[in-house]
Amino acid sequence: MQLIDGKATAATIKQEIAQEVDRLIAAGARPPHLAAVLVGHDGGSETYVRNKVLACEACHFTSSLIRFEDTVTEAELLDCVSRLNSDPAVDGFIVQLPLPPHISEQKVIEAIDYRKDVDGFHPINVGRMAIGLPCFVSATPQGILELLRRYHIETSGRKCVILGRSNIVGKPMAQLMAQKHLGDATVTVCHSHSLNLVHECRQADIIIAAIGQPAYVTADMVKPGAVVIDVGTTRVPDPSRPSGFRLCGDVDFDTVAPLCSYITPVPGGVGPMTICMLMLNTLAAANHSIYA
Ligand code: GUN
Repeated sequence: MQLIDGKATAATIKQEIAQEVDRLIAAGARPPHLAAVLVGHDGGSETYVRNKVLACEACHFTSSLIRFEDTVTEAELLDCVSRLNSDPAVDGFIVQLPLPPHISEQKVIEAIDYRKDVDGFHPINVGRMAIGLPCFVSATPQGILELLRRYHIETSGRKCVILGRSNIVGKPMAQLMAQKHLGDATVTVCHSHSLNLVHECRQADIIIAAIGQPAYVTADMVKPGAVVIDVGTTRVPDPSRPSGFRLCGDVDFDTVAPLCSYITPVPGGVGPMTICMLMLNTLAAANHSIYA
């Protein structure tokens, strides 16, 4: 079994990005600028956004954090999106999800200029991704593809089972894994209403678990030699930790890992790669390499 080290891979990629940014600055450009909008004080969202700001520093980007209390109105948030859309000093921005229930996430996502949508959530980017056109691709699936590529894990013609059908991970992952010249795999998407889910998983050469249920994937679901990618990051209470919680993946790591050819840990697997891909998307936005 080989552990896929997302943390180390992400550190390498961030160094590569920083070198590219230094070259751009030496040639007279300003650093890429990512803005993040954070509503409320959800612990997970605070951590994600803090890590995104730290990643910007590592990549020699400029970052801005725009904060709102969770009493912000939808109109105020849409106004902020509109200002960021037209601010020439901002190359790309994200609105951290989830948003409070009185705000329509879809309305906010659709208000973002797709050319600055470095999360790749706007329907134009989602649609272009689906038909293989250049676009901003959602960072988690992109990070998983990059890990598979850097570890020389063959996906072409392999059977890939994706657990979860979310707009952010499951759906784009399925499309990218099936796409020619990318995953080129035979893809099955399983979800909460799938019959024979255990049987489907047992056929898989590659399992990508993104259902948000701690330790859901157990040893009986995994074919010996399979590659297992764990997207789960559920916070479970752990009084022995200073934070009071630990992150738990969707895979029961201790029993599944011995069966695998490759497996990602949680933390230190997919998570750091996701943030790295956001940085790559921001660099592409600054360079206008996807949209002129
Ligand atoms: N919430 C959880 N993951 C993400 C993400 O990738 N982007 C944004 N904007 N919010 C999230």
